[in-house]
Amino acid sequence: MLHRPAVTPLELGEPSMARLLVVHHTPSPATHSMLLQVLEGARQPDIVDVEVASVAALAASPIDVIGADGYLIGSPANLGYLSGAVKHFFDTIYYPCLEETRGRSFGVYLHGNDDCTGALAATETITTGLGWKMAQAPVVVTGAPQAADLERCWELGAAIAAGLS
Ligand SMILES: Cc1cc2nc3c(=O)[nH]c(=O)nc-3n(C[C@H](O)[C@H](O)[C@H](O)COP(=O)(O)O)c2cc1C
Repeated sequence: MLHRPAVTPLELGEPSMARLLVVHHTPSPATHSMLLQVLEGARQPDIVDVEVASVAALAASPIDVIGADGYLIGSPANLGYLSGAVKHFFDTIYYPCLEETRGRSFGVYLHGNDDCTGALAATETITTGLGWKMAQAPVVVTGAPQAADLERCWELGAAIAAGLS
């Protein structure tokens, strides 16, 4: 007699779990410190029904994006725009994800030496095209991140994750 293997909850997926995808370009200690705070906020134990995935912008795929319920984007400002890595991410996922991700929530954190205006404007333009909704005020840090800046990163992660629960 053939025995059918039991289908475990893992195989079925966890339908009650929302998924937050953090897509980031992290080339330096300053940006890394911001990423760590965003992740710590998003993964705070009070938020029990949201799983958080973190993926480098150059490795993120349309499948990652379609499979998530909301997004956090992290980028340095480079040459007055988003980093090439995050621009490449958006170039890669834009049309494959356009229909399926419309209306989803996102947040963004940016780091620059002195001016992130162009990077923020680019984020707004691209995500408007995608139909994503900015669910929290952007966190923009220039220069070495201070304790208050890192706290804003933590709060951003926590608020975006809590919004998905
Ligand atoms: C090629 C290049 C271009 C950059 N352009 C900008 C820029 O337009 N505006 C800005 O504020 N910072 C700019 N920066 C600084 C980066 O944003 C900064 O290096 C990055 O956020 C990492 O921070 P850190 O170098 O303090 O660790 C640039 C850096 C590089 C390497």
